[in-house]
Amino acid sequence: MDKMPGKVLLTGGAGDLAQILIPELLANDFLPSVIDVRPPSDKAIAFTEASILDREALDKAVAGCEMIIHIAAWHGIHDFRKEHDAYDFWDLNATGTFNVFEAAARAGIKKMIFLSSTSVNEPYGLYGHTKIIGEEIARAYYYRHDMKVITLRPRAFIPHWNATVYKNYIEWAKYFWLGAVHINDVSQAVYKSAIRLTSGKPLNEPLTLVVDGAYEYTSDDLANWDKDGPGSTFKRHYGQYYDVAVADGLDPSLRPNKLDHSLTTKEIGYKPEYSLKSLLEELAKFGAAGPPGPSGSSVVAKTSV
Ligand SMILES: NC(=O)c1ccc[n+]([C@@H]2O[C@H](COP(=O)([O-])OP(=O)(O)OC[C@H]3O[C@@H](n4cnc5c(N)ncnc54)[C@H](O)[C@@H]3O)[C@@H](O)[C@H]2O)c1
Repeated sequence: MDKMPGKVLLTGGAGDLAQILIPELLANDFLPSVIDVRPPSDKAIAFTEASILDREALDKAVAGCEMIIHIAAWHGIHDFRKEHDAYDFWDLNATGTFNVFEAAARAGIKKMIFLSSTSVNEPYGLYGHTKIIGEEIARAYYYRHDMKVITLRPRAFIPHWNATVYKNYIEWAKYFWLGAVHINDVSQAVYKSAIRLTSGKPLNEPLTLVVDGAYEYTSDDLANWDKDGPGSTFKRHYGQYYDVAVADGLDPSLRPNKLDHSLTTKEIGYKPEYSLKSLLEELAKFGAAGPPGPSGSSVVAKTSV
């Protein structure tokens, strides 16, 4: 480490990701603080109640910070549900991201983590387009202000306990089934990025890292999916869970898609832990209700979309 991890500002630090991330940052000796338009569930965390569109408040919140983790954004669910329009997306995701990087530059902050998304692969959607703009801003500040920047591109990770999105665990499981990443693994990718930025190891270019979950299925399984009949690939890996999966309306013949996160593993030591096996173990243990979320999550869930 070039020096002890210091104060880290989380924009959007009252949301789902931050709720998991803050304890991980504290456990790794970082000092998290939050700027958000609503309070975080952990009342002990230093908190600025303000929008990142308020430049004066943002300048105050970034003062004294060593690093910023820029999370605040409208994301896929807000686009899908038409809850926010093009102006909203532009204001928060494009102007808001610019404000955060510019405030960081003015305060001399050199370590930045930007939460982008695999939605950059849908460049003409409201969300994907503004994340591309965000990535461009992050890149420009790396070169213009000599900032160390890591951009993370997670795929979908809204947790099953976010009751505004998933009506129950099974609905979430159906989504995860087709390929997604657990929020705990996204949190791991963020705090490992924070550790990487404080490690003293040079960053020779701005890093852009895909964040996917863990899989038992091999590339060969996916290329030759169900060659012995519907459900056969699933049965080979998870035979003992076949009946419980079918009983809960999950379809073993559905093939997930898997993303390459080898660069993420190489650069920050990311090793996702949650896989379809984890989900099936939870299902067997907790039934269709699923495991409990973190405490206070229902309060966060009510206002997070
Ligand atoms: N959740 C996913 O599936 C997913 C997938 C890929 C990428 N991402 C990215 O991860 C990040 C957030 O994830 P999350 O699940 O924690 O989202 P979330 O919606 O739970 O949290 C976002 C937070 O931003 C806050 N916010 C909204 N407007 C603000 C403003 N003007 N100023 C300050 N804060 C404001 C909200 O109050 C909320 O607490 C986003 O950048 C998103 O694009 C999410």
